[in-house]
Amino acid sequence: MEALLFRNPSSGHVYGDKCNKAVRTAREQVANLVGARPDEIYFTSCGTESNNWAIWGVVASARKRGIEWPHVVTTQVEHPAVLRYVEALREQGLLRYTTVAVNEEGIVALEDVVGALTQDTVLVSIMHANNEVGSIQPVQQIATAAKRKGIVVHCDAAQSMGKIDVQVDDLNVDLLSIVGHKFGAPKGVAALYIRSGVQLEPMLRGGGQEAGMRAGTENVLLVVGLGKAAELARLEAVKIPCHMEQMRDKLFAMLQESFGQGAIAVNGPKDSSCCLPNTLNVRISGLDAAQLLSSLRNKVAASAGSACHSGKNSISEVLSAMKVSEDQARGTLRLSTGRHTTKADIEFAVKCIVEAAAKQGLCNKIA
Ligand SMILES: Cc1ncc(COP(=O)(O)O)c(C=O)c1O
Repeated sequence: MEALLFRNPSSGHVYGDKCNKAVRTAREQVANLVGARPDEIYFTSCGTESNNWAIWGVVASARKRGIEWPHVVTTQVEHPAVLRYVEALREQGLLRYTTVAVNEEGIVALEDVVGALTQDTVLVSIMHANNEVGSIQPVQQIATAAKRKGIVVHCDAAQSMGKIDVQVDDLNVDLLSIVGHKFGAPKGVAALYIRSGVQLEPMLRGGGQEAGMRAGTENVLLVVGLGKAAELARLEAVKIPCHMEQMRDKLFAMLQESFGQGAIAVNGPKDSSCCLPNTLNVRISGLDAAQLLSSLRNKVAASAGSACHSGKNSISEVLSAMKVSEDQARGTLRLSTGRHTTKADIEFAVKCIVEAAAKQGLCNKIA
């Protein structure tokens, strides 16, 4: 490990070789997780970089080929690493884009995406699963329709990795963002899958690392961590998601019992096979979720569906795209379970939430 810590994978001596081998192994591990070839995996620093690169890389390549106004189609519920970035590139006069609406479950319709494609569309960027409500998008159908028209398809799979199966050929995508810290790797490392033959401009130019596509000395330790996390995610592809789902379902059942079925509803897919197994985004009638969470901040780690900034209430963009009302968003809790969540954790969390809600005058039963 010491040699890995201090040496450079590009060095031509024995220590360099060890680092180089470690990076190669990690690349294979990540490739195996998504069913790609190792030479189609490019390490990056974070999901934001992978998403930015996918968008800019395709747009810059299209502009080089003479398309003056490359058009990008994406959805209203993407992560800011997509939405803020297309906005910025539009302001710079580099592209045009369309964001497609989602339904009340946070899912986009194939025909709406197809209807947004134009002669100049060069890229469709669609997330695999949503980070707030867990909705899983019909990526494969969208990718197949877009690719029939020669359009490159990027999928932000930050949230789905390690929770549902992510195979680049099943999804039929050309570019896929893989984000380490979402499935157990250290923070600060991610990857972009680039299907062989896809035209994409390099992210960083310099010393030629990452096949000349993303120069800069590799962060060997983090890359090794990403590789190991990918290997574990593959080995535990059934066990961990199953555990997360059981814990999530128990959490929802206990909240329903405490607040009463009519007072609590899920924001997101009704059919749980269209939702990530770890995500529970629920609205509780009459609740002030932000206030509740601030009183629980040392006990329950969760988020609210709206936040108050300088006296102004702002609703999550995802919930507004799903037409969740301001009141409902104010009562929304974003909860999730993980590989280490136990039944005792769930019981403790529900007890804390119920007690805090009772202080707001809510709740049928004190757990
Ligand atoms: C869906 C999605 N995409 C992209 C990102 C950005 O990843 P990072 O924070 O590593 O830049 C996140 C992070 O929360 C995410 O949830």
